[in-house]
Parts: sequence; structure tokens; C-alpha cells
Amino acid sequence: MTGAPEPHDDGSYEVEVGEDLAGMERVVDPAGSDEERRIEAALRPRRLADFPGQQRVRDQLGLVLEAARRRGSPPDHVLLSGPPGLGKTTLAMIIAGELEQPIRITSGPAIQHAGDLAAVLSSLVEGEVLFLDEIHRMSRPAEEMLYLAMEDFRVDVIVGKGPGATAIPLELPPFTVVGATTRAGLLPAPLRDRFGFTGHLDYYATEDLVEILHRNAALLEIEADDAGIAQIASRSRGTPRIANRLLRRVRDWAQVHGQDVVDEPAAQQALALFDVDELGLDRLDRAVLDALCLRFGGGPVGLSTLAVAVGEEPDTVETVAEPYLVREGFMLRTPRGRAASPTAWQHLGLTPPPEAGGAVPGAAGGRFGRDGEEPATLPLGE
Ligand SMILES: Nc1ncnc2c1ncn2[C@@H]1O[C@H](COP(=O)(O)OP(=O)(O)O)[C@@H](O)[C@H]1O
Ligand SMILES: [Mg+2]
Repeated sequence: MTGAPEPHDDGSYEVEVGEDLAGMERVVDPAGSDEERRIEAALRPRRLADFPGQQRVRDQLGLVLEAARRRGSPPDHVLLSGPPGLGKTTLAMIIAGELEQPIRITSGPAIQHAGDLAAVLSSLVEGEVLFLDEIHRMSRPAEEMLYLAMEDFRVDVIVGKGPGATAIPLELPPFTVVGATTRAGLLPAPLRDRFGFTGHLDYYATEDLVEILHRNAALLEIEADDAGIAQIASRSRGTPRIANRLLRRVRDWAQVHGQDVVDEPAAQQALALFDVDELGLDRLDRAVLDALCLRFGGGPVGLSTLAVAVGEEPDTVETVAEPYLVREGFMLRTPRGRAASPTAWQHLGLTPPPEAGGAVPGAAGGRFGRDGEEPATLPLGE
């Protein structure tokens, strides 16, 4: 792949790279590391038709782009929201590709002053796509400048200081903003309203991950059979970025063990080595469930108490472990804190105490007991 991008003076750049999320040493971390960006760039589909999954968003976006192409004018601004690793950056690049327009990439945290944004905006060419990653992290003055630019294709450049300062309006050529955010709820309403189209990405179905993995295995020249791919897909938390990463770890395992083909046993053994279980839970997820069930009797317990119990930052527990645990029905968020569901107890091979089972709507107590096992007793101070 290409080397480091050549940034503009304002810090934005124009080549295909991943996003700014800090890399963490966790094989099921949905955020990518620096080293991963290069590999990801090689694996990104370039056309909407090559992008599996997210069918609704794909169909809607396809329509918006096709209409714009026929009119010969830039489409509405597009907002993409959803958890990390689901394809927001990829879709932004596809949008530019389908429109056959250049793309300028920058991110909310890189735009701290309105002046940073003015510099980016004033250098856009007609029809260009401006990709603003992590748009919810832009500063307020920059946000206000962006409203005006998105609506009226204009920026007011402030000249001078204090009472003598004047705003000189600068016309901009029509362009398209593609915003991406993991936290759509944090976007102020006026900004959200300026996007004519919002696509919400959701976790992928296992079949879609299977398709993605087959394609990527071929691109990376990894020979993998269907059962091996199915194993990896089912442990990838509905997230293509994780699927791609697990594929590479399994490939490593197979190579070191002198195996030419990534098959089911290879996938099972490699993923066991990396502590990823059959449901895609890793050590942190299981530590959280363990603490919830064994130390706090199933909860509810406050986030920070739970985080201390597993030796992590509350933020890590909340953004990394919790979304998947909640989605898979292991953890419940209640007004009084986090609680374990009967499924969590079952996954740990434990029987929930009657109160825990009973407190959860729809919980069928008997299903969760194991033959001949005593229900775990769970004093708080254990
Ligand atoms: N639908 C998809 N098909 C194939 N690969 C995908 C898809 N969605 C994401 N990926 C891959 O997953 C990785 C992360 O995607 P990315 O667009 O960077 O996610 P996000 O910006 O939402 O965090 C990339 O390598 C990309 O190729
Ligand atoms: Mg991204």
C-alpha cells in the first residue's frame, strides 16, 4: 500500500486510511490500530455493489447517489452513524467513488478551531466529498461554521479583532459532507438536521460476515474452507473489522502449525489461544460477567464499581465490553446499574439465584440450572 499520507497545511489529507481511534491490544477490539489501517485500506470494497450487508442503508444510499448523478449535482449531505468497525469510513470512500469525486478526509478532533475548518472548506473543489469522521467531537464554533457552509455554501471569514472585526462572506462551490459518528445522540439537533440523509449501520448478520471473510481471504491469499470461515464469522461480534482481524490471527496460527488451509479446528484452536470464545466474548467480557455474577450477585451494580472490580477504566467497560454484552442479552442496563441476565449465568456455567432469574422479564428459571449443580451462593463481600 501507499506510505504515510502527505497532509495539507490544515492537517486534512486525501488518501485512503482508517480512522483515528486509539489502538488497544485486544483481538476483539472494534477500534483499529495504526498498523491495521494499511491492511484495511487494501480490503475496503470500492463500490456499493461490493459492500455486503447493511442492505437498507445500501439501497437508500444507492438511490440518493443515483439521483444526484442523473441531476449532475452533488447529493444531500450524508450522516453515517453506528458502532466502530462496521464500515462508516468504507462507505464514505464508496460515496466519493460512486460520484467519481475526490475525497478530503478529516475528523472532529482535528478541527479544534473554526479557522481549521475554514481552511479545509475554502480549499474544496466543486463536487468534492468532505469526510468528517467523529463529527460529534468537533468544537462548537467549528460546528456553527459548518451549519452555514452545509446550508448556504458560504463561510464568514472574520478579519480583525474586537469591535473592529468584520465578517467577509466567502462563497464555496457545492460539495458534499459525509459525517461519521459512533454517537449520533451527541450531535446537536441543528447539525443533525442539515444532513439530508442519515444511514444507521447495525451489527452484521453472520451470513454477511461469511461473505466478507471469503472475499478478504481471497484478497489476502489465505486458503480457508467454509467451516473455518463460519467459525470466525460467528465469533466476530457482528463486526467486519473484528472478522478481518480474527482471520489474520487464524491464518498466523495455521502457518505456524504448517497447515495450508484455515479450517474449523485451526479456527477453534487459534481463537481459543486468543481467548475469544464461541460467542465472541473475550477475557474482558468474561471478567465483567464473572464480576457481575460472582461478586455482585448478579447486580445491579454501578459502572465504576464494576470497572474497579475488573481493573479497567469505566470508559473501557462502557464503550468496549458493554455494547456487545447488552446486545447479546448478557447484561442489562437498569436505572440502578448493570445487571447480569440469566443468559450470563448460563454462559458461565452457573445457576442464577432465584431473585436474579425472577427479576428479569421472560427469564425461565429451570432452563438455566445445570444438572446436579448447586446454585451459586453469592454474598456481596465474596
Ligand atoms: N460491508 C463491508 N464489507 C466488507 N468489508 C467491510 C464492510 N464494512 C467494513 N468492512 C471492513 O472493516 C474494516 C473497518 O471498516 P471501517 O469502514 O473502517 O469502519 P468504521 O469507519 O465504521 O469504524 C475495513 O477493513 C473494511 O474493509
Ligand atoms: Mg471509521
